[in-house]
Amino acid sequence: MVPGPAEKGDDGAYLATTYGITPFPKLWADRIAKLLSKDDVAEIVDLGSGAGGPVVRVLKELEARGLRVRVTLTDLFPNANAARESPSIRYWPEPVDATHVPSALTGTRTMFAAFHHFRPDAARRILRDALEHRRAICIFEATSRTPAAIASALLIPLLVLVLTPVVRPVSWVQILFTYLVPILPLLIFWDGLVSQLRTYSVEELEEFTRDLQSPDYRWEAGLIEIPRLPAGVPYLIGRPHAVL
Ligand SMILES: C[S@@+](CC[C@H](N)C(=O)[O-])C[C@H]1O[C@@H](n2cnc3c(N)ncnc32)[C@H](O)[C@@H]1O
Repeated sequence: MVPGPAEKGDDGAYLATTYGITPFPKLWADRIAKLLSKDDVAEIVDLGSGAGGPVVRVLKELEARGLRVRVTLTDLFPNANAARESPSIRYWPEPVDATHVPSALTGTRTMFAAFHHFRPDAARRILRDALEHRRAICIFEATSRTPAAIASALLIPLLVLVLTPVVRPVSWVQILFTYLVPILPLLIFWDGLVSQLRTYSVEELEEFTRDLQSPDYRWEAGLIEIPRLPAGVPYLIGRPHAVL
């Protein structure tokens, strides 16, 4: 498995580059596309966006499927420097708490590689908020708490050494602390390892939804298989469901 993006405080450009060598943006877009209609411009509200993560790539994948999409990036600590790279992406300037999303932000909610940061109580509140507002929510992780995934974190320092020259923008400080004093490969390895260890299993995701049942809302949790690898990453999708 490809080591996943890590924690707050990591270099956003490095993470965005990492997404480019993974199949995750395509795999996630496959799932999101099923929730969106081609008839209208679909609204996506991304939660815990950090520096933007995979959003630009996911948007391209959705557009390639004929969908017209507008994305609003949000974060508790909005990142003014986040790469938008598309007129269809905007960054909400006010702090947005994923457990209490303002009603002005309508649309399908997404959260990429961030759910493992939330303790169970907050994780449940994120899901409850989506349910109470009858908004679809897609929780995607790029990590997994399996022995193989945890072992794969050992590849992260090597990946940082290989990828840093293609990261844009890259600073001299990054180069210095990657190659001359290799602190960054170790820090990013540690972040990646902790992310793998914190990732909720499919069973835990299902458990979070146990008290969040409603006839007009459905939950689906599972593993997204990674092509050519005997591995998968967990996801949880909640969506309003028409009651006949
Ligand atoms: C791993 S980082 C960014 C993940 C990003 N989606 C990506 O793929 O690169 C997780 C983000 O969650 C944000 N965050 C932490 N607590 C939050 C909360 N209660 N509501 C919304 N965002 C929060 C952090 O500021 C951080 O930017």
